[in-house]
Amino acid sequence: MLTVPPEFVRAHTRPVRPALVPEVELLVAADVVALWEAMETELGRTSTDPPFWAAAWPGGQALARYVLDHPELVAGRRVLDLGAGSGLVSVAAIRAGAAAVLASDVDPFALTAVAVNAELNGTAGITPVGDVLGDGPPDVGLVLAGDVCYDREMTDRVLPFLAAARAGGAVVLIGDPGRIYLPEDRLIALAVYDVPDTEPSPTQPTSVRRTTVWRLP
Ligand SMILES: C[S@@+](CC[C@H](N)C(=O)[O-])C[C@H]1O[C@@H](n2cnc3c(N)ncnc32)[C@H](O)[C@@H]1O
Repeated sequence: MLTVPPEFVRAHTRPVRPALVPEVELLVAADVVALWEAMETELGRTSTDPPFWAAAWPGGQALARYVLDHPELVAGRRVLDLGAGSGLVSVAAIRAGAAAVLASDVDPFALTAVAVNAELNGTAGITPVGDVLGDGPPDVGLVLAGDVCYDREMTDRVLPFLAAARAGGAVVLIGDPGRIYLPEDRLIALAVYDVPDTEPSPTQPTSVRRTTVWRLP
């Protein structure tokens, strides 16, 4: 997998504190379209994934809020942050006392963003790793999956993996803003948050996404 230099992430982003998780500082896209074009140039090809990693998604914000407010769930545990993106949830897990975090993402830009955001927040113990869905779940006590059910293909891969992690004894939490692919009737709701836009518009009212933290039974 391509290794993206940290300078690339820093050059195309600016720091924000997500509204629901002001304890964490994150580098987000300064200009999404310009960033996406720069990613294609960096990779030397077109049709890369959008810069999912350069935003704080509502599911990730809700999960991060939940673990910061419930450190007893996290303290001393090894954690998998599945679909880590920016690393927001990983940083929150370390802040809540996790022993170590594996931050898994398929996007090489995300893996670098995780490391850069971990450093920005002074959090040690986060290890960026690639795709783990093809393997059995790693040896962790807690799996955190923020906004991973954004399309059917991803959901079809993620749900069996999460079920296997749960069957292996891990606590599994999902942060999700009501996406249609998530089978909510098979999950337990732990908390609901109204997550404001990370980037409020100066001319439009701030929109919020009602977002739930779910636990696999
Ligand atoms: C909507 S973003 C959510 C990012 C972050 N969890 C948050 O809430 O801000 C979904 C992330 O899942 C990642 N992803 C897609 N397929 C994946 C896979 N097989 N394993 C791990 N991550 C994956 C994408 O690259 C993207 O960064």
